[in-house]
This record gives sequence, structure tokens and C-alpha cells, in this order.
Amino acid sequence: MALVAVVGQGYVGLPLAVRAVEAGHDVVGFDVDAERVRRLLAGDSYVEDVADDRLVAARATGRYRPTDRADDLEGFEVGIIAVPTPLADRSPDLAHVEAAASALGTHLRPGACVVLESSTYPGTTEELVGPLLEAASGLRAGEDFHLGYSPERIDPGNAQWTLTSIPKLVSGVNASSLTAVQGFYDTMVDKTIAVSGTREAEMAKLLENTFRNVNAALVNEMATFARDLDVDIWEAIEAASTKPFGFLRFTPGPGVGGHCLPSDPVYLSWRVRQKAEGTARLIEVANQVNVEMPDYVVARLAAALERRGRTLHGARLLLLGLAYKENSGDTRESPALAVAERLVAAGAEVRAADPHVDPGYQLPGVCRVEFGPAELAEADAVVLLTAHGAFDGDLIASTASLVFDARGRLHGPNVERL
Ligand SMILES: NC(=O)c1ccc[n+]([C@@H]2O[C@H](COP(=O)([O-])OP(=O)(O)OC[C@H]3O[C@@H](n4cnc5c(N)ncnc54)[C@H](O)[C@@H]3O)[C@@H](O)[C@H]2O)c1
Repeated sequence: MALVAVVGQGYVGLPLAVRAVEAGHDVVGFDVDAERVRRLLAGDSYVEDVADDRLVAARATGRYRPTDRADDLEGFEVGIIAVPTPLADRSPDLAHVEAAASALGTHLRPGACVVLESSTYPGTTEELVGPLLEAASGLRAGEDFHLGYSPERIDPGNAQWTLTSIPKLVSGVNASSLTAVQGFYDTMVDKTIAVSGTREAEMAKLLENTFRNVNAALVNEMATFARDLDVDIWEAIEAASTKPFGFLRFTPGPGVGGHCLPSDPVYLSWRVRQKAEGTARLIEVANQVNVEMPDYVVARLAAALERRGRTLHGARLLLLGLAYKENSGDTRESPALAVAERLVAAGAEVRAADPHVDPGYQLPGVCRVEFGPAELAEADAVVLLTAHGAFDGDLIASTASLVFDARGRLHGPNVERL
């Protein structure tokens, strides 16, 4: 068993740290956010996939140490980087990865192993993380210490496919690094799959998310023209989904959200523009289609209200769902926020119910309310943006005078679907 340092204790890093404790390792969970560390020390989890009792049990072993002090990284044998990889001006912002690599590099010892888990463009591990570790430590990657990349594939909220059961891709900058990386993850998950190079492993992660983004864009775009063709897109998708091979079911929605889908394809297209000839046209068009979906939802809602003699201006609207995915409280890059912002700008009286999103979370001009019959009945229109299980579809369809369903979940004479 090893002394494992997990840098970043968020959606990815915290489940990893707790799993490593459960697998028998000693774990330092380092995060620069002192408030998060305070909560972890108090056994109060902010990540839905890690229940408080699991966190408390991890702490009770005496082998899990949350900290915001970089000096506590001293002596680590396996260092995992699980920090955000956001965008700045539609370009990769790797400042968090750089800071994490430098922090680990300061405490790097011969024989240790460093793994990048953050999603990023092909080349990051070898061209950015390796040199930073070498500069801070004076050691050589692949010779004095092991270095690799292992993309995180977790799907928060998914009870069937978990960190342990999802096959884990592992890679190293050379054969001995791959052996070290794979050896560590074999203690953590049911199955590891070796990839010969870190670039291929980095690309695999971006390919997975770009695949989803492009397919989401395809059905989103189809939804925008299906009505003009007099086609029920939802039924067409269900029909196509009966094909037992060669088709994967994606459904339209108000856009894509979360930390991954809106940004990972941009990491790839940015890298293509930087390093390759030509442009990643399909990726860029898909991004554009998805980014425009909130405008389309607002336009359809405005048209539905207009048919009832109302305008968005002054209409009382109830938005159901602020999170980007069902049964999750994660609002990062959520298209629901873009829809809400546009409706507020159009002069609507906007209320929003989301039982998964912290009640303290506020949006300018939006009144947070509880989901229930009174709010449903008093709204001029109800807009289903996130299909949380807590939203009773029968109650919505039977109580609201007008429903715009951006998720294709509801039926009834007052329901209009995307
Ligand atoms: N959330 C997901 O479902 C998911 C799935 C697969 C991959 N990823 C990828 O994993 C990476 C992390 O995403 P996340 O969702 O866990 O992010 P997150 O924002 O939930 O957590 C990141 C944590 O890192 C901390 N941090 C930032 N800079 C730091 C530093 N220099 N040192 C120590 N801590 C630092 C932050 O305070 C935060 O607590 C991203 O690259 C993301 O694309 C995320």
C-alpha cells in the first residue's frame, strides 16, 4: 500500500481519495479551497457520489487526511492530479494543472509516480506536466520517477457504473511508468486497460466526450427542424433506437452542460488549430449548435405563449431544474442557467424549482421556489429543463396551464415538447 496524494478534492478527486482509503492506502487529500477542506474534516461531503457516512468512515480509518497545506504532500509515493481544466476566452486554461504539478514537484522523490487525471488535450502530460515536475524536483520523468495519464470517466449520479466498475484507461510516458500507473490503479478499480502512450489516453477521453457532444448536437439540430417537417422527433428517435446495431440513442435538450461536454471538445479543436493543418470543423459546428439551444428554447416558449395571447414580458414562468443533468445538483455550465438569464432579460417573472441544487444558490432576477401544485397552477407556463425524478410528471401535466417540455418526458393536452 502507498502514500497517495490526491490534488483537488472535487467531483473527481474526492471519490478517488475515498476509494484509495477503502483500497487500503494512506491518503492526503489536498485542495486549495480551505472551506472544502473544513467540510471534509467535519465529515460533510459536498459531492453527491460520496455519502457523508463513507467520508466519516474514511476519516475513521485514520488514513485519510484532507488538507489545504501543500507541505502535507511531503513523502507521497503516488500523486494524482484531479484539478479543473476550464476555458478562458474559448482556449484551454491549464493554470490549475500547472499549479498542481509544481506543488507535487516540490515534494517529488525518486521512485514516486505522478498521474494526471484531468481532461485535457493530447500532449499535456509529456509537454506540460512532465517538465514542471522535473523543474521543481530536479528529477527525470520516466527515469527517476514515473509519469502517466489516466482519464477519469466517472458519471456522477450513475449508480450502475461507478469509479470502481468503469474500466480505467492507464498510460505512461514509458514502459516502467505504465507498469507503475497500472499497478496502482489495479488496487483501485475492477479493470484497467493499458494504452501505449499518454497522448492516446488523453485523446481517448476527449474522443469520448466529443462523441457525446457531436451526437447531442445532431439530435438538437434535428429537433429544431423536425416541427417544420411535421415530424415528432421524439417518436422518430424512439423508432430509430429499436435498431439493435449501428445506432446509439441521444435525445434533444436545452443544450449541454457540466464541466466536461462544453469544454473538452474545445480543448481538442484548440489543439488542432495549434498543431495540425486544417480545423476540427465538425466539433466546432457541434459546439455552435449546442450553444444556440437555449435561444431556441426561449423562442419556442415565446411562440407558445403568443398563441395564448401572452408575451414573455410580464409572464409568470416556473422553470423546473437548474442542474445540467437529472438527479444531480451540479449547475456548472448548465443550459438551464442560460435559459433563465434570457427569460429574465425578456422581462418575464422567473421562478425556479430544483430540489437538488443548494437552496442558497441564487441567480439574478430568479426566485427560488419549492416544486408543488401551487407554483405549477399559478405559472403562465412551466418549463421542464432538467428531468429530475422528483418532478412528478402527472402532477405537472395535469396542473399547469401550459408546459414547455425541453426533455421530452411529459404528455398531455397542455404539453408542448421541444
Ligand atoms: N465532474 C465530472 O463528472 C468529471 C468527469 C470526468 C473528468 N472530469 C475532469 O476532471 C477534472 C476535475 O474536475 P472536477 O469535476 O473534479 O472539478 P471540481 O471543480 O469539482 O474539483 C476540482 C478541485 O480542485 C481544487 N483545486 C484547484 N486548483 C488546485 C490546486 N492547484 N491544488 C489543489 N487543489 C486545487 C478546487 O478547489 C476543487 O475543489 C477536470 O479536468 C474535469 O474535466 C470531470
